[in-house]
Amino acid sequence: MAGSDKKLTAKLVLPDSKEVPLPVLVGTEDEHAIDIRNLRQDSGYVTLDTGYMNTGSTTSAITYLDGEQGILRYRGYPIEELAEKSNFVETSYLLINGQLPNKTERESFGRMLTRHSLIHEDMHQFFAGYPPTSHPMAVLSAMVTSLSAYYPDCLDRNAPVDLHITRLLSKVRTIAAFSYKKSIGQPLIYPKNSLNYCANFLHMMFAVPSEDYEVSPVLEKALNQLLILHADHEQNCSTSTVRMVGSSGANVYAAIASGILALWGPLHGGANQAVIEMLEEIRNSGGDFKKFIDDVKNKRDNRRLMGFGHRVYKNYDPRAKILKKMCDEVLAHLGVKDPLLDLAKGMEEIALRDDYFISKKLYPNVDFYSGIIYRAMGIPTNMFTVMFALGRLPGWIAHWKEMVEDKDTKIGRPRQIYTGERVRKYVPMDQR
Ligand code: CMC
Repeated sequence: MAGSDKKLTAKLVLPDSKEVPLPVLVGTEDEHAIDIRNLRQDSGYVTLDTGYMNTGSTTSAITYLDGEQGILRYRGYPIEELAEKSNFVETSYLLINGQLPNKTERESFGRMLTRHSLIHEDMHQFFAGYPPTSHPMAVLSAMVTSLSAYYPDCLDRNAPVDLHITRLLSKVRTIAAFSYKKSIGQPLIYPKNSLNYCANFLHMMFAVPSEDYEVSPVLEKALNQLLILHADHEQNCSTSTVRMVGSSGANVYAAIASGILALWGPLHGGANQAVIEMLEEIRNSGGDFKKFIDDVKNKRDNRRLMGFGHRVYKNYDPRAKILKKMCDEVLAHLGVKDPLLDLAKGMEEIALRDDYFISKKLYPNVDFYSGIIYRAMGIPTNMFTVMFALGRLPGWIAHWKEMVEDKDTKIGRPRQIYTGERVRKYVPMDQR
């Protein structure tokens, strides 16, 4: 489980001077953790850690993240190298299976994803039932839950999971594109087997039956990179939710749908939409971003500089570094001049020199520049978080799989410190 054989022990001294020895676990990258799994049994005490700022909820061999140094690695491979040399399907395989695929494995995985891209025709009726104003994240989460109704063997915890994993990876892409087509009133475009994963998604999003659609190789590469950068981020809010829901034995579709819902919030995956809305608001009110930054610093109306700050990164988010460069390349290729990019760069420059942001170690995160790229690609703002979900899917699946295969997994069930009333006698209505 841990990377070191050395037996280290910490000691906790309780108010009555009783000493409780606590084993220390050391991870492969020399991270140290105090193992409190027997604490309550040995001492009667629990710990309190709102927001899990200091609590490891599991051991995991999937992703390594060093927030101080700005390091992110999937299964040991640096994110920079994967973004440059891999593609999203290969990275998904790596996250889920632990190794890069060989040629045969890669081809067979790709074939399976192609074969399972259609959704049951009856599910098309569901899209018709949503109002055109529906947020695509509402549609996506409901549709992913609904998949469990079409593949009921997912309810059998002993049944093989590989096919469900393939279906999820392939069909979530189709559902995402269909929800967009439905929202703009265009006919649904079916997946095309001759296209690779990302090209197929762009085709389903932007083709219309009345004319030919050529997928731009530059956009296909950019989409591959965007999805790779989002593919995993260890125990973030949505991934922890997937693990928590999955720990009850709920099926994989239910667990992934719950991750999609956790991602939706503006402090998590919803931030990419919130960044663009923030930039548009600043531009529409005259472009005075210095005033906006002053408002943020003075916490006026609880304003935050969206796309800045991270629970773990106390350095430049390595994903944001890649995205900033990609932003320039994609916009130049498309010949797009987006005033929001200039605004974003101006705000970043000021924030990185400002004491407020420096002292709190607030740097641009993955959401600061991604929205500008999606916009340039023609993806509407309310679809940005769906794009994040599509990227994060292999990470959620990898964590779900690791969790169900881990003999140490227990149902997620934190403790609390009760601060309410002590026992009271019931008061009849006429005496209240
Ligand atoms: N703008 C202004 N102030 C900020 C920001 C920000 N974006 N982020 C944190 N702070 C301040 C915060 O007000 C607090 O100040 P004080 O100590 O004076 O009360 C301090 O920094 C610590 O903030 P926190 O909320 O306690 O930190 P956290 O680790 O709980 O929150 C965060 C992390 C990502 C929720 C937060 O930085 C944030 O709200 N950022 C904006 C939303 C955002 O971009 N989210 C996407 C995160 S990356 C994608 C993902 O993985 O989901």
